[in-house]
Amino acid sequence: MLSEQGHKVDCIDINTEKIELLKSGKIPLYEPGLADYLENNIKSQRIRFFDSYSQINPNTEVVFVTVDTPSDSLGNANLKNVYNAVSEVSERVNQDCLIVIKSTVPPGTAENIHNYLSNKGYNFDLGVNPEFLKQGSAVSDFLYPDRIIIGVKTKLARAKLEVIYRSFIDKNIPLIVTDTVTAEMIKYASNAFLATKVAFINEMAGLCELLGADIDLLANSMGMDHRIGKEFLKAGPGFGGSCFPKDLSALIRLAEDHNVKLQILNSVKESNYNHITNIAKKVEYVLNGVQNKKIAIWGLTFKSGTDDVRNSPAIDIAQLLVNNKAKITAYDPMGMDNARQVLKDIEYADNAIGAARDAEALLLLTEWKEFKNQDFASLKSIMAAPNVFDFRNLLDSELLLRYGYHVYSLGKKS
Ligand code: UGA
Repeated sequence: MLSEQGHKVDCIDINTEKIELLKSGKIPLYEPGLADYLENNIKSQRIRFFDSYSQINPNTEVVFVTVDTPSDSLGNANLKNVYNAVSEVSERVNQDCLIVIKSTVPPGTAENIHNYLSNKGYNFDLGVNPEFLKQGSAVSDFLYPDRIIIGVKTKLARAKLEVIYRSFIDKNIPLIVTDTVTAEMIKYASNAFLATKVAFINEMAGLCELLGADIDLLANSMGMDHRIGKEFLKAGPGFGGSCFPKDLSALIRLAEDHNVKLQILNSVKESNYNHITNIAKKVEYVLNGVQNKKIAIWGLTFKSGTDDVRNSPAIDIAQLLVNNKAKITAYDPMGMDNARQVLKDIEYADNAIGAARDAEALLLLTEWKEFKNQDFASLKSIMAAPNVFDFRNLLDSELLLRYGYHVYSLGKKS
């Protein structure tokens, strides 16, 4: 997307397979719309791909470090890949190159990297430029950001990043310039706050269910108060993905290192865990146990619009039911290949209807639109029992009730 803005971009990854795919115009993951931009920019030679650091152009003006920062066993962000990348780059580019950390890193990391490079005798300028793209809508999030955050140490770094984001500044998209630690903190606090909103609404869903109130009406009405905002108030089976759980843990751990207990965020983490397990328990309760019962799962990715199953609540819920000897058949429009790597003890169907054949219950766990448009009239005749658990509140429950299903929505009276 940076090449789409007219910049000349060289991309380096040590994974040769990925680089070969990208060179041929293919994206190694599912991200709607991205392939078209890639093709355009390869054609106009604004983007190139390399699988070795040795191919870096020494005159590169700005390097964005975008490697992953996975959780270690204690929940800390593991910065090994960031340091490797920075180290490799620093040995190959001229000293006036600006190194920008785009990876999500604990506040203070850019400063630490600056010191690390100084100790090695390098004097690079460093910046921080966190990303706020959501998987599945990364292209439009890039093109229409609410704001762009740059954390810098010098005026020159600011000027270089202003050149990179010129087309956005010209469209009056706010560019917020901070020091590096504040930029790093903005990223973590934003993800933590969004996760808090999701955990909050999921707790309200539990209460709505008991009281006979309606979570969707509640969330929409709350969201109309602009102080609250309507986004990220959709109840579901819990938040997952490669960002929220990891970043939440990293922030909690970082605070602990400073003898601070982040009480709200600790509760958010626990609440999300409880919510996921409660969903499996609810299925067990309604079905009077799941042992040897055939259960269909629609949706395995952590949300729709992606093929990513990392930390997916759907996978966790399937696993909890498998642990209690349920016989699961699952289907996901995009995530089957990735799911097969992590969830072994279940069957996979070629389509949604196939998954539901002979099932005593159908669990909808990811909000793929295609699930909404199934032929529920004939589906009922091939299921062993007409139980539908809609944990994304995606389906038309009134229609399903008319067809004779037992419908269990999230945060609504059953
Ligand atoms: C998240 C942030 O939203 C991005 O701004 C950020 O750039 C990204 O992490 C990152 O740090 O890289 P992403 O992980 O792609 O993006 O997914 P989200 O759309 O935020 O959803 C996270 C989880 O919350 C999903 O499991 C989703 O189903 C759940 N969710 C989200 C809800 O259950 N309800 C909602 O209303 C919103």
